Amino acid sequence: MKKKLICYIFAGLLSTKVNADPIYLDYQATTPVDSRVLESMLPYFTKEFGNPHSTTHVYGTRSHEAIEQARAQVASIINADPQEIIFTSGATEADNIAILGVSRALKNQGKYEIISVVTEHKAVLEPLKVLEQEGFKVIFLPVQKNGIIDINDLKKALSSKTALVSVMAVNNEIGVLQPIREIAKLAHEHGALFHTDAAQGFGKIPLDVTKDDIDLLSLSGHKIYGPKGVGALFIKRGTPVIPLVYGGGQERKIRPGTVPTPLCVGLGKAAQIAEQERLSESKRLLALRNKLLNTLQKNLTGVLVNGDLEKRLPGNLNLSFTGVDSAPLLANLKGIAISASSACSSDSLELSYVIKAIDHDHSLPPAIIRLSLGRSTTEAEVEKAAEEIIRVVSDLRDKNPTGGGRSCKVEDIEKIKKDLLKNM
Ligand SMILES: Cc1ncc(COP(=O)(O)O)c(C=O)c1O
Repeated sequence: MKKKLICYIFAGLLSTKVNADPIYLDYQATTPVDSRVLESMLPYFTKEFGNPHSTTHVYGTRSHEAIEQARAQVASIINADPQEIIFTSGATEADNIAILGVSRALKNQGKYEIISVVTEHKAVLEPLKVLEQEGFKVIFLPVQKNGIIDINDLKKALSSKTALVSVMAVNNEIGVLQPIREIAKLAHEHGALFHTDAAQGFGKIPLDVTKDDIDLLSLSGHKIYGPKGVGALFIKRGTPVIPLVYGGGQERKIRPGTVPTPLCVGLGKAAQIAEQERLSESKRLLALRNKLLNTLQKNLTGVLVNGDLEKRLPGNLNLSFTGVDSAPLLANLKGIAISASSACSSDSLELSYVIKAIDHDHSLPPAIIRLSLGRSTTEAEVEKAAEEIIRVVSDLRDKNPTGGGRSCKVEDIEKIKKDLLKNM
């Protein structure tokens, strides 16, 4: 317990700004609100404050119109009908409605099996656990070493009892893209519905619910330079869903509650900008990511890319470093704000469940970082980040030539914690 606590403190310290302004390379965790998005939202906090459901006066109707415009903006970038979009508090809620709502609606038709993947986000894995407790059978497909499912595994798992297949479009840690069109086609051939958690893909990769034949798609505002606390679920017309909460009739009675106008307006605007800039931004991010990776691999040995490098989100890099320990690597990378794919648990170093799923032969070095580049990332930042990683990894290897084990000793954490506090 005590050891676990120290690990949490340590994790907290890592997320604290040690230097004044570390370079932000954690855009898959969240993004800042784009100034154009903020501007579009502001009137709806003050002058245009009407309840969008009070349509007996202009305050309400103007708010209502703004929400319908946002709905149309979100729908248009995935080629959906606006009436098939319901606003939620984020992708977590959208995933919960899709998974719990659809599975429960189909159970009385003799369909009580769900298929998903071991590397899904917790927003999918946790509701699936709830379904297991309710008597559903959940089949978790493994992934190949590149992080992508083997389509033959899906073929074997599907049956006439499958209610729903839920597979994410883009993985949040390793950035790999699953073949969702192929998965949807197979699911439908077996009479199952298909849901995709597209929180990391919406606005970044082409998604077309008609061409991809998607029944349900979850998305989030704060991954695309929109506000936190808003997202949406695309539900294909005719898809049976039992709501999770009950109240007024808002959002087709599937997600009742007063719809937050400023947040929806922000999501709509963010979606519109993301789509307008998607191609040029993808190209720019890919070039920056390649530069970062090439610089690291040119100057350091033992830099491994986790997950498929081709079928991958342009701005994502997930890297393992041989010959260094994870805790000191993270503690010393003070100039960049990044995520780790491993965490201390008890007195050992736990690789994340996503990394464990691709680490088939238990050979991956535990020093793993996720670098995610975004709209404000510049070439100069990438160069600086690369310099810092090269310096820190080289120093650690020089100081401890036998490093790179999987231990995460309490004494080490205490020492690193003290060093960090000294520098704050
Ligand atoms: C793949 C994936 N799904 C779901 C979520 C949850 O999104 P939200 O924060 O909008 O609830 C995230 C956020 O990290 C994510 O990356």
